[in-house]
Amino acid sequence: MASTYKVKVDKSKCIGCGTCSALAPKTFKMNDADQKAEPLPGEHDDDKTVLQAAQSCPVFAIIVEKDGKQVFPKE
Ligand code: F3S
Repeated sequence: MASTYKVKVDKSKCIGCGTCSALAPKTFKMNDADQKAEPLPGEHDDDKTVLQAAQSCPVFAIIVEKDGKQVFPKE
């Protein structure tokens, strides 16, 4: 099932490790120009996968929201 989450990548934090796009390739892609992650439009991976990808980011550059509320990282 497609994710109900909305994701953002804080490019000022992203160090380009690529874990997010490896774990959730329908949700994140690496930008060839700056080697940083960016969210993809459309279907996305399922919620669990998206959350796992966000939790795997070593620098907490991924922000996950649902219905306008931040789910991860916890505020
Ligand atoms: Fe960047 Fe974190 Fe993904 S460092 S490439 S947002 S796992």
